Order: sequence, then C-alpha cells, then structure tokens
Amino acid sequence: MGQILVTGGAGYIGAHTVKRLAGAGLETVVVDNLSTGHRDFARWGAFIQGDVGDAETLDMVFGTRKIDAVVHFAAASQVGESVTNPLFYYQNNVQGALTLLAAMRRHGVDTLVFSSTCAVYGPPFDSLLTEDHAIGPISPYAHTKRMIEQILADCSRAYGLKALCLRYFNAAGADPEGEVGERHLPETHLIPLVLQTALGQRECVNILGDDYPTPDGTAIRDYIHVQDLAAAHALALEHLRSGGASGAFNLGNGLGHSVRQVVEAARSVTGLDIPVRLAPRRAGDSPRLVGDAARARAVLGWRPEFSDIREIISTAWNWHRQEPHGPPPL
Ligand SMILES: NC(=O)c1ccc[n+]([C@@H]2O[C@H](COP(=O)([O-])OP(=O)(O)OC[C@H]3O[C@@H](n4cnc5c(N)ncnc54)[C@H](O)[C@@H]3O)[C@@H](O)[C@H]2O)c1
Repeated sequence: MGQILVTGGAGYIGAHTVKRLAGAGLETVVVDNLSTGHRDFARWGAFIQGDVGDAETLDMVFGTRKIDAVVHFAAASQVGESVTNPLFYYQNNVQGALTLLAAMRRHGVDTLVFSSTCAVYGPPFDSLLTEDHAIGPISPYAHTKRMIEQILADCSRAYGLKALCLRYFNAAGADPEGEVGERHLPETHLIPLVLQTALGQRECVNILGDDYPTPDGTAIRDYIHVQDLAAAHALALEHLRSGGASGAFNLGNGLGHSVRQVVEAARSVTGLDIPVRLAPRRAGDSPRLVGDAARARAVLGWRPEFSDIREIISTAWNWHRQEPHGPPPL
C-alpha cells in the first residue's frame, strides 16, 4: 500500500487525523506551508514544508512517492478574515484546490477526502441540517468550500475522481493522550478562548451577539470531537478504496449548544470563574448550525465516541493546561 498525502496536516484537525492514520498502520506525508500550522504537530509521518498552490512542490511529492490518496485539509479558515480579505481566501483555498487536483490528475491519483464545512448550508437554520438542506454560504470562506465541492463533483463526473466532502460542524477537544490539541493563532474558536480565559491568559470571553433568534440569544453550534473527525477520515478513505460512491457527509453530534451553555459547561469542568463580555455579532456568522449525521453513520459506519460537551471540553482543558505556547500577546 502507498502513502496518504495529507495537505494541511500540521494544523489542528489534520494533525489528529495523521496520528490516527499512523495508528492504523498507514504511512502519511504532510504538505503544509505552516501559515497557521505548527511544525511540532506534524510528527507521525513525513513532513514537507510547501504550498498546495505550488505545482512544482506537488510534482516533487507525487513524482517521488507512491501516493494512493489525498486528504485535503489545507485552507485558510477564519470566517471574519474572509469577509475583510476575500481575495486571499479564493486564491489560497480555491486556487490551491485546483492546483492540487491538476497535480493529482497528472500523476494518476484519483482518491480525495476534502474538508468541507456546515457553513455551506443556507437558511432556514432552525432544523437539524441534512446533506440535502439548501446550500447558501454566507461568508467568502464558506463560498470557497462550496466552490471546491462543485469542482469535485464536476471532476468526479468528467474524470472519475473519487471524492468525499466531509462537512464538519464545530471541531473541538484534543487528543485524549494529550499529544496534540488546538492551537490557532490568532484563536477564533469558542472553546479554546473560554479555556484560555479560565487560565487567565485572556481577560474575558467576548460573546459575539446575544440577539440571535435562539433561546438565550447567543449562537448555537454542534460541537464534534476532533478525535471523532479523525476517525471519520479513516473511514472515508476506506469507503472510497472499497469502491464506495463519491458524495458529501455531515460530521456532527446533532446536539446544539449556545455560547452561554458552552461557557457554563467550561465553568463546571474547570471549577473556575470565566468572565464574559457582550460584543457585537461577527459578520458571516449564522444563528444556529446543528447537523444530522445519519448518512455518515449508515454509509461509513461512523460512531462518534464523544457527545457530552463536558467530556469534549475536558480533553481540551487537559491540552490547554499543558500547552506551552499559550495565546499570542493580547
Ligand atoms: N476547525 C473547525 O471547526 C472546522 C470546521 C469546518 C471545516 N474546517 C476545515 O478543516 C480544515 C482544517 O481546519 P483546522 O481547524 O485544522 O485549521 P488549521 O488552520 O489548524 O489547519 C489548516 C492547515 O492548512 C495549512 N495551510 C493553509 N493554506 C495552505 C496552503 N496554501 N498550502 C499548504 N498548507 C496550507 C495551515 O498551515 C494549517 O496547518 C480546513 O480546511 C477548515 O476549513 C474546520
């Protein structure tokens, strides 16, 4: 068996997935430009510092190794930044995916698992979102993911590309063995922000809007453990290798937690006070995103292990307490 190319494998979800694949006996090679990733996160396989938008780097990787499949995490993924700097997002994410797909075609690699997002869905948001829910991205970031999904569907039809789009809801938690966790710089995700506040590394948690049409006015999200996402990638590769059809799968727990509920759960896990402050809504955010992952359960045999938000936060808490880097200076 050949190797799996993991783009963006020095990032949060990529690193957990590489560890998982290595644990299953698979050889990986990470290509990551370290724009938001970390060299110390890429330690369960080979590592090449490079950009997925650079055809020469990709030709070198595909030309010198036997690559069987690609897992494509590499992307810029901050919703707010994508609103203020959309050109960078279209260039990095869409152009990067096009360059990768062209290189795969040149080298006869036809299997891809792609990191998509629940942010591709449009309103109404009040029900559990299935894969058949109306598509309607709000932010440029989400548009890039939707565009790539469309490109993959077209390539599947035209060239026989085998591609699965995994639409993650909110990735959270950390490796239960504490070897890797979440380190986004700058951090924009709620659970690390809450835990860094608990540790005194931040003054308080900004609640971005309390006037959403939700029971407590704060935005509701479906938190899915990064370990469960990693497991889904291994199953997705297996599915494609055994002749399974291309398509899209939601990866979520089907449980919605508001910002205030997450802060409360973190207070109970840490036993610490976590000050909060009200702030305006962030452009590009939806009021509620909760997914129905029945298709991934039925077709991939995916069984998420973590559903209790406190359990998810506990693994993150173990990581953040020992994470030496902490947040950037305030
Ligand atoms: N974190 C979430 O909750 C979430 C939810 C839905 C989808 N996603 C998607 O999952 C993927 C991974 O997210 P993450 O949270 O691990 O983010 P991350 O920023 O930790 O990881 C992304 C990695 O990609 C690398 N990268 C970015 N552009 C690159 C390029 N042009 N060439 C090479 N490497 C590049 C970065 O250096 C980083 O290591 C992203 O595609 C993201 O859009 C994440």
